[in-house]
Amino acid sequence: MDGNPNHTVSSIYIVNDDRVHREEIHLVLSHLFKVSSFDDNNAVLEAMAESRPDLVIVDERMLEGGKGCLFDKRKDPDLKSVPFIVSGLASASQYINGEGSGFDRLLIRPFSKNAILMQVSDAISYNIEQKWENLPELAMTTLQSTLGEFQDISRAIEENRPLDLKASSNSCQPLVQSINDQNFHGILDNIRGHHNYTYVHSLRVATYLSIFGHAIGIRDDDLLTLATGGLLHDVGKMVTPQEVLNKSSKLDETEWQCMKQHVEHSSKVYDQTPDITQGIRIIGEQHHEKLDGSGYPLGLKGKELNELARMSAIVDIFGALTDERSYKEAFPPEMAFEILGEMSAQLDQRLVGIFRDVLEGHGALAA
Ligand SMILES: [Fe+2]
Ligand SMILES: [Fe+2]
Repeated sequence: MDGNPNHTVSSIYIVNDDRVHREEIHLVLSHLFKVSSFDDNNAVLEAMAESRPDLVIVDERMLEGGKGCLFDKRKDPDLKSVPFIVSGLASASQYINGEGSGFDRLLIRPFSKNAILMQVSDAISYNIEQKWENLPELAMTTLQSTLGEFQDISRAIEENRPLDLKASSNSCQPLVQSINDQNFHGILDNIRGHHNYTYVHSLRVATYLSIFGHAIGIRDDDLLTLATGGLLHDVGKMVTPQEVLNKSSKLDETEWQCMKQHVEHSSKVYDQTPDITQGIRIIGEQHHEKLDGSGYPLGLKGKELNELARMSAIVDIFGALTDERSYKEAFPPEMAFEILGEMSAQLDQRLVGIFRDVLEGHGALAA
């Protein structure tokens, strides 16, 4: 697809001969994806031969009632795993349900920004989730159980229901097993490209925190607390507006204050969660605190931050730096550690060194 194995920003081809409709979709998606637009079937076929897209949004007119070359192209075995969304009027549904199905989703005019984003995100994530079926069982179970739990958590928060902590920690059992077996690359490699960014970040933090904890001798229930705490560390982001969460440019002051509030939102969720543990609270409530008092929300400093809070801060930053988003490349791990090393007033450098050694030992620092 492209030469960079770490590349996860999806490439989308829009095929539509109506300039207004084409640009409408392009504008919504271009902030989050690599988008190429085409007004002609031959041009898109040439582009597909050159570089396979991750998703195609084709207008019903371009399918010419099932006679167009793009309609046939859908059956190309090389494109089997590429989701095709058909855009158009209600009549476009013939390509989804009836004769000539094989198209995956529908985008009906007039387009709403939300519908475009939702259909595209779901299609891309679904595709990634399908690939999990072919993984070794433990990696597959880890990804499926934590994603399912994350979706349950999201619904609970939406409906203002308390979280089920037992369900959250059960969903992390396969992750802990993977860490105990020292076999976690399948998890980190196969979560790339999933479009639920908060889930991706949370599972990566859960995985790195557990790897780190295991390396310093944390085991059994305490290791499960690290994994569960990592998965739940940013639950407050589920109430942060998407436009703040996914903004590609620098946040203004109001947006930054709104972003920082996710920690208070997480605290409220923990307050409502029966049997919440102190370890989970520390990970969620203190992962943005810094040793010099420059962090948030409380500006805790020095000895007020225990080892768990210090580890969480390191892992959270490392996870964010090494994650790719539509608006930024992933930093190679070595470069992320250089940045962590420069934060000597803010992060516990002894722990940074241990974390670095652990990842290096697992071959996770190779570019
Ligand atoms: Fe956070
Ligand atoms: Fe985070």
